[in-house]
Amino acid sequence: MNRSLAIEFSRVTEAAALASFAWLGRGNKNAADEAAVSAMRLMLNLIDMKGEVVIGEGEIDQAPMLYLGEKLGKGGGEEVSIAVDPIDGTRMTAMGQSNALSVLAAGGKDTFLRAPDMYMEKLVVGPQAKGMIDLNLSLEQNLRRVASKMGKLLSQLNVMVLSKPRHDDVIAKMHALGVRVFAIPDGDVAGSVLCCLPEGDIDLLYGIGGAPEGVVAAAAIRALGGEMQARLIPRHQVKGDTEENRAIAEEEIRRCQALGVEVNTVLKLEDLVRDDNLVFSATGITTGDLLKGIQRKGNLATTETLVIRGRSRTIRRILSTHYLDRKDTELYRLIGA
Ligand code: FBP
Repeated sequence: MNRSLAIEFSRVTEAAALASFAWLGRGNKNAADEAAVSAMRLMLNLIDMKGEVVIGEGEIDQAPMLYLGEKLGKGGGEEVSIAVDPIDGTRMTAMGQSNALSVLAAGGKDTFLRAPDMYMEKLVVGPQAKGMIDLNLSLEQNLRRVASKMGKLLSQLNVMVLSKPRHDDVIAKMHALGVRVFAIPDGDVAGSVLCCLPEGDIDLLYGIGGAPEGVVAAAAIRALGGEMQARLIPRHQVKGDTEENRAIAEEEIRRCQALGVEVNTVLKLEDLVRDDNLVFSATGITTGDLLKGIQRKGNLATTETLVIRGRSRTIRRILSTHYLDRKDTELYRLIGA
């Protein structure tokens, strides 16, 4: 993929973050998400490419989501597949809490695994523990292997996990092993990237989160030389074996079959992201461990964006200042100065 596209994609997550910021702390996560989606779609359609969403959040009939198979871009240039998460942390945005960001990954035509929006079990480590994870082993075995490769005691291992009731047992087990656990309410994309950044101090991320978030994060993990294994998990196995959840799970399994991917089967990083020619871009909405959130002063807003290119493994942090008192483009009308 042409490297000049990297800066184009940074504009996309900047715009989505700015648009959602208007809804910060207003208690309306759907409105925040809709604003981010609209801005993302608008900016992606300005790029000279034949783009297609291969990981999105919605279905074709669930407007306004960016849906699987949606065509984007001006239609010229190269074929680009795009994995999006307009807001990772919609609840944090709505509730004015930290760690929300807007994120996407883009690569060549067949770069990313195509998977429905369902749950995914994830195990992530950075380059220092590459080769040591295996989802077929127990979590304890994985923790011990990672610790020994990194020359650490279990008590020196920093693990990030989503703080969800489904992880209560896992968290208790890690505490019993003496591992230091960072249980975050939402946002496992940031957690995954933190495992792989040279300056990050998270050694491992484990837990069940969203599949779109998993594939987007896998792009950064691959670009940064880390490792990830994952498993798509049907809803009733995560949220309880009720009639409603079983019906949703059946549909998820049907969609997986149509896309040629199996549930409950270990997927390696190469299955999630097939080559290095990719770009990952994330812009902070609210301040978290990975990125600074948007700072607004009158009509000025600053954003911080992390752009990672797979081929060169370059990590850029772009600080931008935006003048919002313009009404001359659809984007600025959307951002709502
Ligand atoms: P959204 O903001 O898109 O809802 O994602 C937040 C998040 O915490 C993700 O980081 C995570 O992968 C997923 O939700 C977990 O799903 P759930 O909230 O259903 O447990």
